[in-house]
Amino acid sequence: MKNLFFILALTITAAIAKATPYLVVPGAIWRDTAGNIIQAHGAGLIHVGKTYYWFGEDHTGQKSDQSFLNIPCYASQDLVHWTLRGNALTRQSSGDLGPDRAVERPKVIYNRRTHMYVMYLHIDSKDYHEAKVGVATSRKVEGPYTYRQSFQPLGHQSRDMTVFQDTDGRAYLIHEDRMSGVRIDLLSADYLSVAGPIALIPQALEGNCVLHVKDTYFMLGSHLTGWAMNPDVYATAPALSGPWSEFANVAPPSTNTYNSQSAFILPVQGAKATSYLYIGDRWKGDNLQDSRYIWMPLAVNDKTLSLAPDVPFTLDAAAGTMTFDSKPQ
Ligand code: GAL
Repeated sequence: MKNLFFILALTITAAIAKATPYLVVPGAIWRDTAGNIIQAHGAGLIHVGKTYYWFGEDHTGQKSDQSFLNIPCYASQDLVHWTLRGNALTRQSSGDLGPDRAVERPKVIYNRRTHMYVMYLHIDSKDYHEAKVGVATSRKVEGPYTYRQSFQPLGHQSRDMTVFQDTDGRAYLIHEDRMSGVRIDLLSADYLSVAGPIALIPQALEGNCVLHVKDTYFMLGSHLTGWAMNPDVYATAPALSGPWSEFANVAPPSTNTYNSQSAFILPVQGAKATSYLYIGDRWKGDNLQDSRYIWMPLAVNDKTLSLAPDVPFTLDAAAGTMTFDSKPQ
Protein backbone atom coordinates (compact mmCIF):
# COMPACT_ATOMS: atom_id res chain seq x y z
CA MET A 1 0.00 0.00 0.00
CA LYS A 2 2.80 2.32 0.99
CA ASN A 3 4.43 1.57 -2.37
CA LEU A 4 1.24 2.37 -4.20
CA PHE A 5 1.02 5.82 -2.57
CA PHE A 6 4.66 6.40 -3.41
CA ILE A 7 4.12 5.49 -7.07
CA LEU A 8 1.00 7.68 -7.17
CA ALA A 9 2.87 10.60 -5.64
CA LEU A 10 5.69 10.15 -8.17
CA THR A 11 3.23 9.99 -11.08
CA ILE A 12 1.46 13.17 -9.94
CA THR A 13 4.79 14.96 -9.46
CA ALA A 14 5.90 13.85 -12.93
CA ALA A 15 2.60 15.04 -14.47
CA ILE A 16 2.91 18.44 -12.78
CA ALA A 17 6.56 18.62 -13.85
CA LYS A 18 5.52 18.24 -17.50
CA ALA A 19 2.72 20.78 -17.54
CA THR A 20 3.58 23.64 -15.23
CA PRO A 21 5.60 26.77 -15.81
CA TYR A 22 8.08 27.22 -12.98
CA LEU A 23 9.31 29.87 -10.66
CA VAL A 24 13.01 30.69 -11.01
CA VAL A 25 14.59 32.26 -7.93
CA PRO A 26 17.84 33.99 -8.94
CA GLY A 27 20.65 33.22 -6.51
CA ALA A 28 18.85 30.39 -4.70
CA ILE A 29 20.55 27.04 -4.11
CA TRP A 30 19.64 25.02 -7.22
CA ARG A 31 19.53 21.22 -7.00
CA ASP A 32 19.40 18.66 -9.80
CA THR A 33 16.73 15.97 -10.00
CA ALA A 34 18.90 13.69 -7.81
CA GLY A 35 18.95 16.35 -5.07
CA ASN A 36 22.59 17.41 -5.55
CA ILE A 37 23.58 21.05 -5.92
CA ILE A 38 24.08 21.86 -9.59
CA GLN A 39 27.74 22.51 -10.42
CA ALA A 40 27.81 24.18 -13.83
CA HIS A 41 29.40 27.62 -13.48
CA GLY A 42 30.49 29.83 -16.39
CA ALA A 43 27.66 28.16 -18.29
CA GLY A 44 27.08 27.32 -21.93
CA LEU A 45 23.73 25.93 -23.13
CA ILE A 46 22.49 24.28 -26.30
CA HIS A 47 18.97 23.31 -27.36
CA VAL A 48 18.70 19.99 -29.18
CA GLY A 49 15.20 18.76 -30.13
CA LYS A 50 13.05 19.15 -27.03
CA THR A 51 15.95 19.16 -24.62
CA TYR A 52 18.21 21.88 -23.28
CA TYR A 53 21.75 20.90 -22.22
CA TRP A 54 23.70 22.92 -19.66
CA PHE A 55 27.51 22.64 -19.48
CA GLY A 56 29.65 24.38 -16.89
CA GLU A 57 32.52 24.28 -14.46
CA ASP A 58 32.32 21.88 -11.52
CA HIS A 59 33.63 23.59 -8.39
CA THR A 60 32.54 20.89 -5.94
CA GLY A 61 34.40 21.25 -2.64
CA GLN A 62 36.46 24.21 -3.87
CA LYS A 63 37.16 27.34 -1.82
CA SER A 64 39.55 29.65 -3.70
CA ASP A 65 41.36 26.95 -5.72
CA GLN A 66 39.73 26.76 -9.14
CA SER A 67 41.82 23.80 -10.48
CA PHE A 68 39.92 21.88 -13.13
CA LEU A 69 37.74 18.99 -11.91
CA ASN A 70 35.04 18.30 -14.51
CA ILE A 71 32.77 19.82 -17.10
CA PRO A 72 29.40 18.25 -16.23
CA CYS A 73 26.43 18.15 -18.58
CA TYR A 74 22.86 18.52 -17.28
CA ALA A 75 19.67 18.05 -19.34
CA SER A 76 16.20 19.56 -18.98
CA GLN A 77 13.05 20.06 -21.03
CA ASP A 78 11.65 22.91 -18.94
CA LEU A 79 14.92 24.74 -18.08
CA VAL A 80 14.18 24.33 -14.37
CA HIS A 81 14.44 20.62 -13.56
CA TRP A 82 17.93 19.47 -14.50
CA THR A 83 19.26 15.91 -14.59
CA LEU A 84 22.97 15.22 -14.52
CA ARG A 85 23.90 13.31 -17.68
CA GLY A 86 27.51 12.81 -16.65
CA ASN A 87 30.79 14.57 -17.24
CA ALA A 88 31.37 15.84 -20.75
CA LEU A 89 35.07 16.27 -19.87
CA THR A 90 37.00 15.10 -16.82
CA ARG A 91 40.43 15.76 -15.39
CA GLN A 92 43.28 13.86 -17.02
CA SER A 93 46.60 12.85 -15.48
CA SER A 94 48.57 15.49 -17.43
CA GLY A 95 48.30 18.10 -20.19
CA ASP A 96 45.68 20.81 -20.74
CA LEU A 97 43.09 18.95 -18.63
CA GLY A 98 45.59 17.78 -16.02
CA PRO A 99 45.80 18.68 -12.34
CA ASP A 100 46.31 22.35 -11.47
CA ARG A 101 44.82 23.72 -14.67
CA ALA A 102 42.20 26.38 -15.39
CA VAL A 103 39.49 24.99 -17.70
CA GLU A 104 36.59 27.41 -17.89
CA ARG A 105 33.46 28.65 -19.67
CA PRO A 106 32.58 25.61 -21.87
CA LYS A 107 30.39 26.43 -24.89
CA VAL A 108 28.96 23.83 -27.28
CA ILE A 109 27.69 24.21 -30.85
CA TYR A 110 26.61 21.58 -33.39
CA ASN A 111 28.22 21.27 -36.79
CA ARG A 112 25.64 20.10 -39.33
CA ARG A 113 28.27 19.12 -41.93
CA THR A 114 30.37 16.89 -39.70
CA HIS A 115 27.53 15.86 -37.33
CA MET A 116 29.82 16.71 -34.43
CA TYR A 117 29.16 18.65 -31.27
CA VAL A 118 32.09 21.02 -30.82
CA MET A 119 33.04 22.39 -27.40
CA TYR A 120 35.25 25.45 -26.92
CA LEU A 121 36.80 26.28 -23.54
CA HIS A 122 39.22 28.67 -21.92
CA ILE A 123 42.40 26.64 -21.30
CA ASP A 124 45.03 28.06 -19.02
CA SER A 125 47.60 27.59 -16.31
CA LYS A 126 46.26 28.33 -12.84
CA ASP A 127 47.85 31.79 -12.89
CA TYR A 128 46.25 32.48 -16.30
CA HIS A 129 49.49 33.21 -18.19
CA GLU A 130 48.97 30.73 -21.09
CA ALA A 131 45.76 32.38 -22.38
CA LYS A 132 44.58 29.75 -24.86
CA VAL A 133 41.40 28.28 -26.24
CA GLY A 134 40.71 24.53 -26.23
CA VAL A 135 38.55 22.37 -28.53
CA ALA A 136 36.80 19.07 -27.80
CA THR A 137 34.32 17.08 -29.90
CA SER A 138 31.63 14.45 -29.47
CA ARG A 139 29.03 12.70 -31.63
CA LYS A 140 26.62 12.81 -28.67
CA VAL A 141 25.66 16.16 -27.21
CA GLU A 142 26.13 15.08 -23.59
CA GLY A 143 29.51 13.57 -24.37
CA PRO A 144 31.90 12.25 -23.32
CA TYR A 145 33.90 14.71 -25.43
CA THR A 146 37.28 13.91 -26.94
CA TYR A 147 39.75 16.67 -26.14
CA ARG A 148 41.60 17.68 -29.31
CA GLN A 149 43.94 20.62 -28.76
CA SER A 150 44.53 24.13 -27.48
CA PHE A 151 45.91 27.18 -29.30
CA GLN A 152 46.10 30.95 -29.25
CA PRO A 153 43.62 32.04 -31.95
CA LEU A 154 45.57 33.65 -34.80
CA GLY A 155 48.43 34.06 -32.33
CA HIS A 156 46.46 36.25 -29.92
CA GLN A 157 45.81 35.85 -26.20
CA SER A 158 42.48 34.28 -25.33
CA ARG A 159 41.05 34.19 -21.83
CA ASP A 160 37.27 34.55 -21.27
CA MET A 161 35.57 33.43 -24.46
CA THR A 162 32.38 32.23 -26.06
CA VAL A 163 31.27 30.80 -29.38
CA PHE A 164 28.35 32.06 -31.41
CA GLN A 165 26.55 30.22 -34.20
CA ASP A 166 24.65 32.47 -36.56
CA THR A 167 21.46 31.61 -38.43
CA ASP A 168 23.45 31.02 -41.65
CA GLY A 169 25.44 28.23 -39.97
CA ARG A 170 28.65 30.22 -39.67
CA ALA A 171 30.20 30.13 -36.23
CA TYR A 172 32.50 32.55 -34.45
CA LEU A 173 34.93 32.56 -31.56
CA ILE A 174 34.71 35.66 -29.39
CA HIS A 175 37.62 36.06 -27.00
CA GLU A 176 39.28 38.51 -24.66
CA ASP A 177 42.76 39.53 -25.82
CA ARG A 178 44.33 41.45 -22.92
CA MET A 179 46.62 43.29 -25.37
CA SER A 180 43.89 44.75 -27.60
CA GLY A 181 40.25 44.06 -26.62
CA VAL A 182 37.54 41.65 -27.74
CA ARG A 183 38.29 39.72 -30.90
CA ILE A 184 35.67 38.11 -33.11
CA ASP A 185 37.10 35.37 -35.35
CA LEU A 186 35.36 33.21 -37.93
CA LEU A 187 35.62 29.47 -37.28
CA SER A 188 36.49 27.05 -40.08
CA ALA A 189 33.62 25.14 -41.76
CA ASP A 190 34.18 22.18 -39.40
CA TYR A 191 34.37 24.59 -36.42
CA LEU A 192 37.63 23.00 -35.29
CA SER A 193 39.93 25.92 -35.98
CA VAL A 194 39.94 29.65 -36.55
CA ALA A 195 39.67 30.70 -40.21
CA GLY A 196 40.25 34.44 -39.95
CA PRO A 197 39.60 37.70 -38.11
CA ILE A 198 36.20 39.44 -38.32
CA ALA A 199 36.45 42.32 -35.85
CA LEU A 200 38.43 43.77 -32.99
CA ILE A 201 36.49 45.83 -30.45
CA PRO A 202 38.97 47.86 -28.42
CA GLN A 203 37.25 47.22 -25.10
CA ALA A 204 38.38 44.98 -22.24
CA LEU A 205 35.45 42.60 -21.85
CA GLU A 206 35.02 39.31 -19.97
CA GLY A 207 32.05 36.97 -19.62
CA ASN A 208 31.45 37.59 -23.32
CA CYS A 209 28.02 36.78 -24.79
CA VAL A 210 26.71 37.40 -28.32
CA LEU A 211 23.07 37.60 -29.38
CA HIS A 212 21.53 38.17 -32.81
CA VAL A 213 17.96 39.48 -32.93
CA LYS A 214 16.47 40.64 -36.24
CA ASP A 215 18.97 43.11 -37.77
CA THR A 216 21.04 43.64 -34.65
CA TYR A 217 23.99 41.88 -33.05
CA PHE A 218 24.58 42.41 -29.35
CA MET A 219 27.85 41.91 -27.47
CA LEU A 220 27.48 41.71 -23.69
CA GLY A 221 30.19 41.33 -21.08
CA SER A 222 31.75 42.52 -17.85
CA HIS A 223 34.76 44.61 -16.97
CA LEU A 224 37.90 42.84 -15.77
CA THR A 225 37.65 42.45 -11.99
CA GLY A 226 38.33 38.72 -11.48
CA TRP A 227 35.69 37.01 -9.32
CA ALA A 228 34.34 40.40 -8.17
CA MET A 229 31.15 41.58 -9.84
CA ASN A 230 30.93 44.86 -11.78
CA PRO A 231 28.41 46.61 -14.08
CA ASP A 232 28.10 44.56 -17.30
CA VAL A 233 27.92 46.53 -20.53
CA TYR A 234 26.79 45.86 -24.10
CA ALA A 235 27.31 47.21 -27.60
CA THR A 236 25.37 46.70 -30.83
CA ALA A 237 26.23 46.37 -34.51
CA PRO A 238 24.41 45.67 -37.79
CA ALA A 239 26.94 42.89 -38.51
CA LEU A 240 29.56 41.05 -36.46
CA SER A 241 32.20 42.89 -38.47
CA GLY A 242 30.74 46.17 -37.13
CA PRO A 243 30.60 49.06 -36.84
CA TRP A 244 30.13 48.44 -33.10
CA SER A 245 28.42 51.12 -31.00
CA GLU A 246 29.71 52.56 -27.75
CA PHE A 247 29.09 50.33 -24.71
CA ALA A 248 26.11 51.00 -22.42
CA ASN A 249 25.01 49.59 -19.05
CA VAL A 250 22.67 46.59 -19.17
CA ALA A 251 21.44 47.23 -15.58
CA PRO A 252 21.64 50.11 -13.10
CA PRO A 253 25.44 50.26 -12.50
CA SER A 254 25.08 50.49 -8.71
CA THR A 255 23.69 46.92 -8.68
CA ASN A 256 26.85 45.45 -10.26
CA THR A 257 24.60 43.57 -12.72
CA TYR A 258 22.48 42.47 -9.76
CA ASN A 259 25.64 41.07 -8.28
CA SER A 260 26.44 38.77 -11.21
CA GLN A 261 28.74 38.31 -14.20
CA SER A 262 27.41 37.30 -17.61
CA ALA A 263 28.06 33.77 -18.86
CA PHE A 264 25.49 33.16 -21.59
CA ILE A 265 22.34 34.48 -23.28
CA LEU A 266 19.79 31.79 -24.17
CA PRO A 267 16.96 32.54 -26.62
CA VAL A 268 13.93 30.58 -25.39
CA GLN A 269 11.73 29.98 -28.40
CA GLY A 270 8.29 28.69 -27.41
CA ALA A 271 4.82 28.26 -28.87
CA LYS A 272 3.74 31.78 -27.86
CA ALA A 273 6.87 33.89 -27.91
CA THR A 274 10.64 34.05 -27.95
CA SER A 275 12.22 35.44 -24.79
CA TYR A 276 15.82 35.86 -23.79
CA LEU A 277 17.39 34.45 -20.66
CA TYR A 278 20.41 36.12 -19.10
CA ILE A 279 22.54 33.44 -17.44
CA GLY A 280 25.12 34.78 -15.02
CA ASP A 281 27.30 33.77 -12.12
CA ARG A 282 27.28 35.26 -8.64
CA TRP A 283 30.85 34.15 -7.94
CA LYS A 284 32.16 33.59 -4.44
CA GLY A 285 35.89 33.81 -5.02
CA ASP A 286 36.69 32.47 -1.54
CA ASN A 287 34.04 29.74 -1.65
CA LEU A 288 33.68 28.86 -5.33
CA GLN A 289 31.58 25.74 -4.67
CA ASP A 290 28.81 28.01 -3.35
CA SER A 291 28.79 30.43 -6.31
CA ARG A 292 25.18 30.92 -7.40
CA TYR A 293 23.36 31.05 -10.73
CA ILE A 294 21.65 34.29 -11.61
CA TRP A 295 19.10 33.68 -14.35
CA MET A 296 16.97 36.70 -15.27
CA PRO A 297 14.78 37.80 -18.18
CA LEU A 298 16.72 39.98 -20.61
CA ALA A 299 14.53 42.50 -22.43
CA VAL A 300 15.55 43.05 -26.06
CA ASN A 301 14.09 46.17 -27.57
CA ASP A 302 15.32 47.16 -31.03
CA LYS A 303 18.90 48.15 -30.15
CA THR A 304 18.72 48.04 -26.38
CA LEU A 305 19.18 45.31 -23.80
CA SER A 306 17.95 45.62 -20.25
CA LEU A 307 18.10 43.21 -17.42
CA ALA A 308 15.17 42.61 -15.09
CA PRO A 309 15.91 42.80 -11.34
CA ASP A 310 16.97 39.59 -9.59
CA VAL A 311 13.53 38.74 -8.25
CA PRO A 312 11.70 35.44 -8.80
CA PHE A 313 9.96 35.04 -12.17
CA THR A 314 7.91 32.39 -13.89
CA LEU A 315 9.64 30.62 -16.75
CA ASP A 316 7.51 28.73 -19.23
CA ALA A 317 9.94 27.20 -21.69
CA ALA A 318 7.15 25.59 -23.77
CA ALA A 319 5.40 28.94 -24.23
CA GLY A 320 8.67 30.88 -24.48
CA THR A 321 7.56 33.34 -21.82
CA MET A 322 9.08 34.80 -18.66
CA THR A 323 6.70 36.70 -16.40
CA PHE A 324 6.66 38.40 -13.02
CA ASP A 325 3.70 37.82 -10.70
CA SER A 326 3.77 41.49 -9.89
CA LYS A 327 5.79 44.14 -11.65
CA PRO A 328 9.35 44.12 -10.29
CA GLN A 329 10.34 47.24 -8.37
C1 GAL B 1 37.11 36.23 -14.10
C2 GAL B 1 36.64 35.34 -15.23
C3 GAL B 1 36.34 33.97 -14.67
C4 GAL B 1 37.60 33.46 -13.98
C5 GAL B 1 38.07 34.46 -12.93
C6 GAL B 1 39.34 34.03 -12.23
O1 GAL B 1 37.42 37.51 -14.55
O2 GAL B 1 35.49 35.87 -15.82
O3 GAL B 1 35.93 33.11 -15.69
O4 GAL B 1 38.63 33.25 -14.92
O5 GAL B 1 38.28 35.71 -13.51
O6 GAL B 1 39.78 35.05 -11.36
